[in-house]
Amino acid sequence: MTGDKRTLRAGVIGLGSMGLNHARVYGEIEGVELVAVADVSRERFALASASTNVGEDFSPPGATANTYPDYHRMLAEERLDLVSVCVPTLLHREVALAAIEKSVAVLVEKPIAATTDEGRAMAKASRAAGVPLMVGHVERFNPAVLEVKRRLAAGELGRVYQLYARRTGPFPERVRDVGVVHDLAPHDIDVMFFLLESEVEHVYAETLQGVATEHEDMLWGVLRFRCGAVGVLDVNWLTPTKVRQLSILGEKGLLQADYLSQQVSFYPKSGDGQSRDTAPQAIRVESAEPLRLELEAFVEALRHGVAPPVTAEDGLAALETASLLVESARTGRAMPLPARRPA
Ligand SMILES: NC(=O)c1ccc[n+]([C@@H]2O[C@H](COP(=O)([O-])OP(=O)(O)OC[C@H]3O[C@@H](n4cnc5c(N)ncnc54)[C@H](O)[C@@H]3O)[C@@H](O)[C@H]2O)c1
Repeated sequence: MTGDKRTLRAGVIGLGSMGLNHARVYGEIEGVELVAVADVSRERFALASASTNVGEDFSPPGATANTYPDYHRMLAEERLDLVSVCVPTLLHREVALAAIEKSVAVLVEKPIAATTDEGRAMAKASRAAGVPLMVGHVERFNPAVLEVKRRLAAGELGRVYQLYARRTGPFPERVRDVGVVHDLAPHDIDVMFFLLESEVEHVYAETLQGVATEHEDMLWGVLRFRCGAVGVLDVNWLTPTKVRQLSILGEKGLLQADYLSQQVSFYPKSGDGQSRDTAPQAIRVESAEPLRLELEAFVEALRHGVAPPVTAEDGLAALETASLLVESARTGRAMPLPARRPA
């Protein structure tokens, strides 16, 4: 597909709260046509038709995206170039494998899968078939995170000591298949990998379980990176207000990013050796919808025949780390990361 200029034909499987957004955004990207969507619940098609070209039952054929209650039928009957897999996490593997089998490039929502074995099977199938598989770690495309990345790469913080992520809020009733460690923490784990470009040496975690769900509802996690930095994860779905923040403390000061407002500020360390407070400097960030940037990057990678910007291996690294955090909380022990096996 190198330099491919033709209109790419997109599909979405799972039209829940994320899938509706994927469908809308494909409709907004130039050179992409949303041609089909699949969901087991027909009510989702009517909801989608309000914000996309998804047809309701009475729509004239061809004028709108076709709707399928069975995604296997959609994959068999449509000529798709790419598909977003937005079904619940427990179904990622089966749906992604079905798309790969039909040679359709896959963007699977995060986390890549519910277990590392499932994630590995997906990575292996994608490699064996030569069909691209990207994982939707959308925060990498958040303009605030991109700004922080630029500043770290330019050495503006010097040595990084600590990354502290807070991702808290009320429980989303619809998430029943996995706990908060697998549902939310992979966002920040992936951002930490992205920013530090370093592997994790070991992790330690405490969790609270069984409050809103039968899985973990609250996580306090510590990641020790090989580069020497420490990552701290404060993640739960028990807090009555939504917070999505990241602070990076380094030799030359403190960078703070808000994922929601996309604001970034920098507190420089006073240069005179005195320990005193410094005023924050607001950093201008041009805001944009992270999902739009993510899907555009996926489409660009397909057009140019290059690896997607978030690979299956990236998705696996985040999932593997999340799974070790759960294991650490269960055993009460710090868990070393095993030497990376080929996915
Ligand atoms: N990137 C992000 O910020 C983000 C945010 C929320 C959710 N997610 C991820 O997106 C995925 C979906 O989450 P959600 O919140 O949209 O869930 P949801 O429950 O709102 O939507 C899931 C949809 O999948 C449909 N579905 C279930 N089984 C199906 C099948 N066999 N075939 C076709 N459709 C089927 C359901 O009817 C539902 O409409 C999860 O993996 C979740 O982790 C990512």
